[in-house]
Amino acid sequence: MTTKENLLKLFELKKGVYVSGEEIAKELNISRAAVWKGVKTLQEEGYAIQGITNKGYCLSIESDIISSMGIQKYLDTYEFPTKLCVLPTVNSTNAYLREKAIDEMEGYTVISREQTAGRGRFHRSFYSPLDTGIYMSILLRPKHHVSNQPVHMTILAAVAMCEAIESISYERPQIKWVNDIYIRGKKVCGILTEGFVSMESGMLEYAILGVGMNVYQPVNGFPEEIEHIAGSVFQTSQKDAKNRLTAAFLNRFAAYYTMHDTSDYVAKYRMRSMIIGKQVYVNTMKQAKRAMVLGIDDCCRLLVQYADGKKESLSSGEISITL
Ligand code: BTN
Repeated sequence: MTTKENLLKLFELKKGVYVSGEEIAKELNISRAAVWKGVKTLQEEGYAIQGITNKGYCLSIESDIISSMGIQKYLDTYEFPTKLCVLPTVNSTNAYLREKAIDEMEGYTVISREQTAGRGRFHRSFYSPLDTGIYMSILLRPKHHVSNQPVHMTILAAVAMCEAIESISYERPQIKWVNDIYIRGKKVCGILTEGFVSMESGMLEYAILGVGMNVYQPVNGFPEEIEHIAGSVFQTSQKDAKNRLTAAFLNRFAAYYTMHDTSDYVAKYRMRSMIIGKQVYVNTMKQAKRAMVLGIDDCCRLLVQYADGKKESLSSGEISITL
């Protein structure tokens, strides 16, 4: 670990408490000058570390910057994630993880404070400004039922995220099939699951589950093209929300992912659907066709009925609520 990472770990462990430069230097076996330099770098990166003469340094209890130690504090188990890495910036956590995937174990989780080229479904971009969201990717190597039904990764992640949001806020998130989470009519979270198939066996070798969440409104607002649809979980800063939310999600995700009875989370997914019984538009390459949503079956397909009475089960694709 670098000096900066060690400092951050120490400040996270002693969040809200002043620690003298001398104590820090001793604990980390570095010089006082190195402590000062490291603290300055962290402050420049946005960490709310206060320094007071004769008292030392303290990471504000109110601070809400995502960090590996900050997340670990709230995790239920040491087993998942198997490895956790928080980056200051990256193009896309999905792309980053893909480069590392061959050598890494299932459960390796990468989070970034910002993404410069965040990706969404259908080759769209995902707006990922610094410190207002959670941009996270998890490496999965499913061996159980999920390997035959990859959509389950997205489904159980969506349920896990809704429950995580609910555990730290007063909101009641809903799901727009198949991968979007909405609060009060605005999209706050999207999931992009990318699978990689072995050419030899034809089997799913690994998948990267990417989750992008708007925790707060971006400092300069959302870009014009998404401002009518994008929302955030919170409107004002909350104590340690990003670390708590991430850990709450990872705890629930691990529990659902290892569950053999899929009916539990599929039922929860259905209960949170914001489109069952509603009119939607089914978007194909050529057109947007109006349809009534009848339900979601046990294989997570969307059952729709068109105006001419014809019914269809959709296993992928996109639907919209308005044109
Ligand atoms: C969507 O809404 O279409 C899916 C958005 C998924 C965004 C996340 S952010 C973390 C991960 N890295 C990416 O580049 N994309 C996913």
